[in-house]
Amino acid sequence: MRNKISVIGAGNVGATTAHLIFQKGYADVVLLDIAEGIAKGKALDILESGPVQGSDAHIKGTADYGDTQGSSIVIITAGIPRKPGMSRDDLLITNMKIVGEVTAQVVKYSPEATLIVVSNPLDAMVQHAFKSSGLKKNKVIGMAGVLDSARFRTFLAEALKISPKEIQAYVLGGHGDSMVPLIDYTTIAGVPVSKLLPKDKIEAIVKRTQGGGGEIVALLETGSAYYAPAASIVEMVDALVHDQKRILPCAAYLEGEYGINNLYVGVPVRLGASGIEEVLEFELSTSESALLKQSAAAVQELIDIMANSSA
Ligand code: LAC
Repeated sequence: MRNKISVIGAGNVGATTAHLIFQKGYADVVLLDIAEGIAKGKALDILESGPVQGSDAHIKGTADYGDTQGSSIVIITAGIPRKPGMSRDDLLITNMKIVGEVTAQVVKYSPEATLIVVSNPLDAMVQHAFKSSGLKKNKVIGMAGVLDSARFRTFLAEALKISPKEIQAYVLGGHGDSMVPLIDYTTIAGVPVSKLLPKDKIEAIVKRTQGGGGEIVALLETGSAYYAPAASIVEMVDALVHDQKRILPCAAYLEGEYGINNLYVGVPVRLGASGIEEVLEFELSTSESALLKQSAAAVQELIDIMANSSA
């Protein structure tokens, strides 16, 4: 039997993710949305791409959580996206309610699943999903570092006029303006980026990366990014399904690592069949370590707001 992977939310991120997984052919996909017609319509449309694209996987659109039963991976994209002028944090309370309800339904039908949370504000939403799920911390993972690192690599590749495939980079911290691209661990074919680009150019690229989501929101005017987010989710799904042991930056629940406690923050993790198999503690410079702590403090503020709102 194929893996069953459920995607909650049939908006742009959810539907694009469902399409990419369907194309890979290694899993049957359930696309769930409270707007049943949209889930069913998009799923049928994706299914009909199968004969042309050579996928014989199955995909079902639904509004019924019963259809997600027995999923090995569930991707939570549900929630409202940003509009121009909004920060990810402006979505906090609305999306907290949605993510809490969704998570309860998901674990009811798939208690063994690994959850990948994508809803914003990311770090707060994955923490809320973790608490609502009762699952172990290795089974609840936030997607953001892969996306932020992909943006960073894209801009570096443009500046250096080389393939982004040659660039290794890790963006840590919260998925917000305080995210922390690690310059010392950014290498181009093994060469540190600081040897190839002047400091001011690297700083400009870091700034653009930090505002990368907002840059797309400002252009689209009616929503936020979805192609790169979906591709980033699928890189994580590949690592889980094929037990790849990839080292990817993901939001993980920290209990002392990097001096951070009881908080989801983006860090490098080893992803394999059992979810987060290890949090890797890179040695950070004093300034990067301070920036990571600052970023964690920004996430903690949101956690505190959520705690007060539900009290
Ligand atoms: C972004 C949204 C998905 O960074 O947070 O584009």
